[in-house]
This record gives sequence, C-alpha cells and structure tokens, in this order.
Amino acid sequence: MKVVILKDADSVAQYGASVFVKQVKAKSDSVLGLATGSTPVKLYKKLIEEYRSGNLSFKEVVSFNLDEYMGLSGDHPQSYRYFMNAQLFNYIDIDKRNTFVPCGNAENPFSACEQYETAIKNSGGIDLQLLGIGRNGHIGFNEPSSSLASRTRVKTLTKETIDDNARFFKPGEFQPSLSITMGIGTILESKRILMLATGDSKAEAVKAMVEGPLTAACPASVLQLHQHVDLVLDSAAASLLKNCDMYRHIEEQNKLLLERIF
Ligand code: PGA
Repeated sequence: MKVVILKDADSVAQYGASVFVKQVKAKSDSVLGLATGSTPVKLYKKLIEEYRSGNLSFKEVVSFNLDEYMGLSGDHPQSYRYFMNAQLFNYIDIDKRNTFVPCGNAENPFSACEQYETAIKNSGGIDLQLLGIGRNGHIGFNEPSSSLASRTRVKTLTKETIDDNARFFKPGEFQPSLSITMGIGTILESKRILMLATGDSKAEAVKAMVEGPLTAACPASVLQLHQHVDLVLDSAAASLLKNCDMYRHIEEQNKLLLERIF
C-alpha cells in the first residue's frame, strides 16, 4: 500500500484528481468506480475544471458507484444517484447511460444486486476505484463484520453510520437504515484503488486500516491484500499513524527513482 501524506484536504483532492486524469487520458474508455460522501466532492470539482478547460473528456467512460440507500429513488435529493448527478455527471460529458448506481428502489433488490455484479463483469471490470473510509473503517457500506469475500448485496447500516450521515437529512426526514453496496470481494477485484481520507475524525480508522491487523472488524484493512492501493491522507487523518516518517521516506525515494527512470 502506498501511503501519501499531504498537508491538507485540497492537496489530497488535487492528488486524487491527477490519478483520475492520468487514468482517463491513458484509457479513454476507463471503467471508474466512484464514491459519494463529503470526501470526494473536492476531487469531483477538480475533474469538472479539467473537463471545462478542455483537458479531459469522459465521453467513453463507464462508471459504477459503490452504493445506494435502499428506499430512495434516484430523483430523491438524498439518494446517491442524485448526488452523483449534482456533484459530477451534470457538468461533464459522460453519457449518463454509462453511469451505474445501484437501484435503491428496485422491485427485487436481490436480483438488482446480481445484475449490478453482472454489469461490472460485462464492462471488463473496474480500472480505478475511488474509496472513502467510514469512522468505523467501512468501505462502501460494508460495515464492520462484513464478509471480506462479500459481493454486491443488501446491507444494514450501523447506528454510527446512520448518525454520521444524518447531517445530510432534514430533521424528521426519512433516513434509510438499509443500503445496496458493492461487496468487499467486488471492490478487491478493481485493478487499482485510490482511497482518500481527510480530517481527524478519520485518524483512528486510518490507523486500524494501515497498521492494524487484517480483520473484518475494520473492513478497510482488507486493502492490505490488494496489489495497487494509493492511500492519500491529509496530516489530520494521518495523525495517529506510528510510521509517518517511514511513509514520507518511501515517497521521497519513489520520486527519486521515477526521476531516474524517466
Ligand atoms: P465521508 O464518508 O466522505 O462523508 O466522510 C466516507 C465514507 O463513509 O465512506
């Protein structure tokens, strides 16, 4: 796992955006795995800027989102489909027919999960998956104790996640307690994973993920098994890591090596 520690959330978004730009420039029909929540918003803004400056096109890109609330249709302002349209898709040239978000109001959610898996497979698989991390170490809505081999499925949200996400809902508004989420096994099949984490509320989860044991108690720790993960942190999210100096040293050495090769 490559651990990159930067000074603030803006630098994290800039770094993340540059990974996406390189990916889409290298493969115009990339299959991107996308995430919702507060963390990716700045990154999406930067991708919109890249598109507006004429530097990048998403015309051939296909995207799959990690998760969706069950019980919300795509036109509900709190749904993740709505979020993706409002934060990214409405402002770039991606063909919305090629943007996939699990269907929150499917008549049969179980077959919707199977269809989602099939659609990912038929696309050739995810080239680059963006992830955030929950305070409890979840990825997507794979809460602690999720099977590390899980596939896209219906998942109950923990009280902690419901409380964390309550800020997006109006007082008294229906807030779902169920979701459809890509499984951990699904996420692990992505060719490359980019996780962003910012702020001190993520420091405990980041520490458990990077320096703790591989355990379903911290689903993000499963990324220790993946060959190509970039974890990009601001200094607050990295504040509880024991080996910060080592991660910084490795980054410096990597840069020197790349300068020598290219
Ligand atoms: P956040 O959520 O970006 O809103 O902090 C991340 C997550 O729960 O995966």
